Amino acid sequence: MARRDIIILPDRRLRQKSEPVARITADIRALVEDMLEAMYDAPGIGLAAIQVGVAKRVVTIDVSKNDDEKCPQVFINPEIVARSAEMSVYEEGCLSIPDVHEDVERPAAVTVSYRDLEGKTRSIEADGLLATCLQHEIDHLNGVLFIDHISKLKRDRIVKKFTKAAKRAAE
Ligand code: NI
Repeated sequence: MARRDIIILPDRRLRQKSEPVARITADIRALVEDMLEAMYDAPGIGLAAIQVGVAKRVVTIDVSKNDDEKCPQVFINPEIVARSAEMSVYEEGCLSIPDVHEDVERPAAVTVSYRDLEGKTRSIEADGLLATCLQHEIDHLNGVLFIDHISKLKRDRIVKKFTKAAKRAAE
């Protein structure tokens, strides 16, 4: 079992805007370890810190789809600095909205600046699944969920379903 639980819709923290990380402390490194554990445990390909209830701008991703060799990527204070005009559609899901998958259209490629775990400023040009995943996770840091990119009708239906389930679980 992972040390930290992933919070689920309609948990209000998912709508919170996360704070930038000022310094890479031992706490931040421990948070990253816990996030990677929770992400691989789930299993998922991306996680934002707010999904384990921590409102810090930290993202973990592994889109390698390789069971033998893990390729974790860590993004501190990630920011999209350029987007392609070309768009692409991926069927997205989210560990905080289990068992829901919907097509989402986003820019096909993005340039993201971020800090690594050593505190060094870096930049990555991403396309394909990594571009989608980065945009999905950076959305989380701003309190935005992938269901915000689909029709209101579908979104309302999903939120209602999860609100009902949460009420039932609390009874
Ligand atoms: Ni998500």
